[in-house]
Amino acid sequence: MTASALAAVTGAEGFIGSHLVEALVAAGHKVRAMVQYNSFSSYGWLDTLDQDVLAEVEVVLGDVRDPGSVGGLVQGAGTVYHLAALIAIPYSYRAPHSYVETNVTGTLNVLEAVRAQGVPRLVHTSTSETYGTARTVPISEDHPINTQSPYAASKAGGDRLADSYHASFGLPVVTLRPFNTFGPRQSMRAVIPTVIGQVAAGSREITLGDLRPTRDFSYVKDTVAAFLAVGTAPAEAVVGRTFNSGTGEEISVGELVGLIGKLMDAELDVRSDAERVRPADSEVMRLVCDAGRLRAATGWAPAHTLEEGLRRTIDFFRDPLNLARYKAGIYNV
Ligand SMILES: NC(=O)c1ccc[n+]([C@@H]2O[C@H](COP(=O)([O-])OP(=O)(O)OC[C@H]3O[C@@H](n4cnc5c(N)ncnc54)[C@H](O)[C@@H]3O)[C@@H](O)[C@H]2O)c1
Repeated sequence: MTASALAAVTGAEGFIGSHLVEALVAAGHKVRAMVQYNSFSSYGWLDTLDQDVLAEVEVVLGDVRDPGSVGGLVQGAGTVYHLAALIAIPYSYRAPHSYVETNVTGTLNVLEAVRAQGVPRLVHTSTSETYGTARTVPISEDHPINTQSPYAASKAGGDRLADSYHASFGLPVVTLRPFNTFGPRQSMRAVIPTVIGQVAAGSREITLGDLRPTRDFSYVKDTVAAFLAVGTAPAEAVVGRTFNSGTGEEISVGELVGLIGKLMDAELDVRSDAERVRPADSEVMRLVCDAGRLRAATGWAPAHTLEEGLRRTIDFFRDPLNLARYKAGIYNV
């Protein structure tokens, strides 16, 4: 195996990470996958992948807050995909220190390890949440950063460190800034699995937060394709730059629930629950993506419509084996 064939992934056991691992193996890579150390010997979603995929995956238990475990992870890698993060906005109100430790210090550890070991390419993961409520649409990478939650602030901190390591040390880092992503394996902290999961579990009374915000939803396989696009493009096209990924289409949470109800053939009674409503200035009211820069640099384009992605996600949650992995009856923070 050549060094460049080895891809290292943080956050590999998570929603997007597990789909990325599958795609990397399908593209012929060996993968070294960091799974956050836990006492259950759980590899998260990696436990559910096919054996022939797992045969190409070396799982390393570790923690991005620990420089030593990050150093071991990136050794000999041709590309590092850094996805590990704490991602829930409501939990970031409760536990902000852990967000800074994971999303800022954890990213610093990855940057340092990549620098120390001369890894040829790092893909750092940002989020559209760093833009805050759109001031102009669609949102290009030149849109101001406005961090309305501790989560967004911690992700923007990681982004700024990544930019600074490129400027200061010529680190070959590229930042991918995905807009909202959905699909099989997503946790019920996010709106689409919350709605589909509650309906699949037999409920017709759906409890949500604010129904007005709009989002630009990408199917997970399209977001993964964007990761691969920036991970494999010629350095001169992508290194030192930030790229949005998203569809350019927006839908409100309320409209989305209506569409899911239609696709699941279910009459839904939607209730707004005060516990789920965010502080007014913290709620990001509008996000819609301009992915023109990514398209121009790599040729990437989304390949799934919202409806296609929702149908696949519904199929996933309707499988009782999958649904049994979730707690559909509680508010998942
Ligand atoms: N899901 C989305 O809509 C979306 C949109 C934009 C950006 N992102 C970004 O994509 C990345 C993946 O998000 P996801 O939706 O798959 O969430 P996820 O929670 O499923 O994945 C995050 C992973 O990071 C791991 N992790 C957390 N703390 C860690 C630590 N200290 N050490 C090692 N691993 C740790 C978790 O175990 C988890 O597997 C994140 O960086 C997130 O900010 C997600």
